[in-house]
Amino acid sequence: MISKERVQELVDQAIQARERAYTPYSKFNVGAVVIDTSGKEVTGCNVENASYGLSMCAERTAIFKAVSEGSDSIETVVVVGDTDGPISPCGACRQVIAEFASDDFTLILANLKGETKVMTKEEMLPYGFSPKDLT
Ligand code: THU
Repeated sequence: MISKERVQELVDQAIQARERAYTPYSKFNVGAVVIDTSGKEVTGCNVENASYGLSMCAERTAIFKAVSEGSDSIETVVVVGDTDGPISPCGACRQVIAEFASDDFTLILANLKGETKVMTKEEMLPYGFSPKDLT
């Protein structure tokens, strides 16, 4: 069980990553932190494009950065945005996170008002399609 203090520390890190969001179109900034099973922490933010559909969410930026740097199993993902309640990741991000989520994976959702929601992998993506389905 992750402590309240640790959650706050990680949310603060995600808020810092959020500062680097490139969002000239939506102006909706999101920050993320992923932690792999070796303890390595990698941050991400959303990066938009004039060709809107090419925009990348903060969570996937962080996951792809981590995997490209050698992470193969992710223990924690933290996401923060300026939403009413804790931010809700899009379906594409949930699928990408699930691909790399470890067995005791934790998803931490947050907003700028200090509200947080902690979820398991199954809560994040119930009955999801996974690499196991291909074997
Ligand atoms: N966005 C994220 O980065 N993560 C989320 O969880 C929700 C949405 C981004 C995508 C786009 O740049 C902007 O927020 C508005 O949808």
